[in-house]
Amino acid sequence: MRFTNVLLVLILWSVVIVAAIEPISTGIAIGMAAALSGFLACYQNVLYYFHECCREEWISYNKSGLEIDLKRKLFGQHVASRVIMKAVTGFINNKNPKKPLVLSLHGWTGTGKNFVSQLIVENIYNKGMTSNYVHQFVATKHFPHLSHIDTYKAELQQWIKGNVTICPRSMFIFDEMDKMHAGLIDSIKPYLDYYDNLEGVSYRQAIFIFLSNAGGEKITRIVLDFWRAGRAREEVQLKDLESALSLDVFNNKQSGFWHTSLIDKNLVDFFVPFLPLEYSHVRMCALAEMEARELTPNVEIAEQVATEMTYFPKEEKVFSVKGCKTIGSKLDYYI
Ligand SMILES: Nc1ncnc2c1ncn2[C@@H]1O[C@H](COP(=O)(O)OP(=O)(O)OP(=O)(O)O)[C@@H](O)[C@H]1O
Ligand SMILES: [Mg+2]
Repeated sequence: MRFTNVLLVLILWSVVIVAAIEPISTGIAIGMAAALSGFLACYQNVLYYFHECCREEWISYNKSGLEIDLKRKLFGQHVASRVIMKAVTGFINNKNPKKPLVLSLHGWTGTGKNFVSQLIVENIYNKGMTSNYVHQFVATKHFPHLSHIDTYKAELQQWIKGNVTICPRSMFIFDEMDKMHAGLIDSIKPYLDYYDNLEGVSYRQAIFIFLSNAGGEKITRIVLDFWRAGRAREEVQLKDLESALSLDVFNNKQSGFWHTSLIDKNLVDFFVPFLPLEYSHVRMCALAEMEARELTPNVEIAEQVATEMTYFPKEEKVFSVKGCKTIGSKLDYYI
């Protein structure tokens, strides 16, 4: 029996005893019991205050926080920022969504896919990535062996069901989605679909985020065409990328998305393209990293770090091969 329940029973017993011994005091005793049970209700709230639970105190969307984070912390991703803001805000403001939110983040390595997922998480869950309601899977780490696929399927389904039962506003992040076995993706399909509930559990408040490099080359080619035509990067619009991206991802036989019904059933609500990063963005990443380490930002060092990175294509050297990845270790060398 929980502590609060024990106390409640004790209070009720004392009311009964007082009523039996001295009827006149019964009113007072009942009043005291009411006050005490009120205190206990508050006491439970105090518990909620200290211990994360599936309540508004711990899970609430900070729209302006996400807007500011995307503007200040995420560099060179104007398309992704816009789509994410619209998708997350629209979903959370909808009191009765027809299905869970499914975002699929695509792009070249080191362009901010994990970073953005973290920003989304931090602006919904007070405890950020350490929240009990945020679950991250990495294909090569959690599902490495093809021969265990049936076990993985069963465990994954149980895991999703169990966690959404505990908290409807749960988030599931699947990293390296392109390395995930197609059968495994198919096994989570029912949870992403337009069902009112499955075996008594509703998944419509949950958020699923898929991360992958699938389509990254296609995005890069489109952005490079803009660059070669002398057009500003900011001119690239979602419509320039979206259809090419979903076709590329769908037709790519190396990709885990291939022949899964996620795409042909329209279960992905938004494909979010991440553009390859240029020198100026890498330089900003280096400055941001210094700030994160509480160092005085040093432009000269940032430029040195950015210069040291490798850029492609060979002739024009426009995009960073590793995006902003490895900036941290490069910085270690200078400070
Ligand atoms: N667009 C960006 N703006 C600001 N910082 C960035 C950006 N892209 C990457 N970074 C920085 O680089 C680090 C690595 O990026 P991240 O892990 O998000 O890349 P990714 O897109 O997930 O790459 P991969 O496809 O290899 O997994 C981030 O933690 C962040 O510090
Ligand atoms: Mg990543």
